[in-house]
Amino acid sequence: MIPTSSTEAGLLSASAATVAASATSCGAALESDAAAALPPIISMRGVSKWYGDFRVLDGLALDVHAGEKVILCGPSGSGKSTTIRLLNRLEQHQKGTVTVCGIELTDDNRNIEAIRADVGMVFQHFNLFPHLTVLDNCVLSPMLVKKVPRPEAEARAMAYLERVKIPQLAGQYPGQISGGQKQRVAIARALCMQPKVMLFDEPTSALDPEMVKEVLDTMVSLARDGMTMICVTHEMGFARDVGDRVVFMDEGRIVETDTPQNFFSAPKTERARSFLGQLISH
Ligand SMILES: Nc1ncnc2c1ncn2[C@@H]1O[C@H](COP(=O)(O)OP(=O)(O)O)[C@@H](O)[C@H]1O
Ligand SMILES: [Mg+2]
Repeated sequence: MIPTSSTEAGLLSASAATVAASATSCGAALESDAAAALPPIISMRGVSKWYGDFRVLDGLALDVHAGEKVILCGPSGSGKSTTIRLLNRLEQHQKGTVTVCGIELTDDNRNIEAIRADVGMVFQHFNLFPHLTVLDNCVLSPMLVKKVPRPEAEARAMAYLERVKIPQLAGQYPGQISGGQKQRVAIARALCMQPKVMLFDEPTSALDPEMVKEVLDTMVSLARDGMTMICVTHEMGFARDVGDRVVFMDEGRIVETDTPQNFFSAPKTERARSFLGQLISH
């Protein structure tokens, strides 16, 4: 599927950008104690957003440190996508502060370009460019945004396609490959920008069941390598396996935060219990 909004298209093929050096909080993943001592990679404080009169986010506060894996879950319409989309400015908040890699998200375009170079995003519907080969989907942003010369961008793309175990698909077009393969291309494409944090918005929910595992395996491997990740997903096995924290949202608020073990076995709020009951009964 092609990008669903002009902003997403802009994100993927961004025009020339000055990629600012990232702040110290965006260094490589550290041991958790050391990472916790540094400023968080992502910090949201009192974040609210409205669509017209409808308040979609209501005073969110969330810190994510280097190397952390945060699972964002909650009922449909609770504001999960909006939350992660505003972390790379695909959406704008109207109240509160959002800081990513030490840079506050404002209308300053230089900040937005710098953030987008550091924050990789994987969408439910892949958002690959259908008229470009897998390889060209992967080299586009590094060449346009980071000015990486084509030979180097191709070498990097091939390394990440190897990493997601589909180097043989480099010359194929998105229409020629399966959903699971498309999502692995989307992950490789995001990694080609060498982001400091990866955001996933229900990356397996549009896939046929037999393809879910190959994508989750790729995400698990990325998590084990120390990538900082925020994943909107209802895949409980994945959440238990790699999640440091589950953040449960409802009606635009963070209702409950806990370890996956505690959250799934003994949710503290009635809303979380009811949500989990519905998940399990399906
Ligand atoms: N562009 C928009 N305009 C108006 N309402 C929107 C828009 N995008 C999302 N919403 C509404 O905001 C709420 C939260 O949406 P979303 O963040 O997509 O939730 P989730 O990802 O948890 O399902 C929903 O009620 C949705 O209908
Ligand atoms: Mg959503």
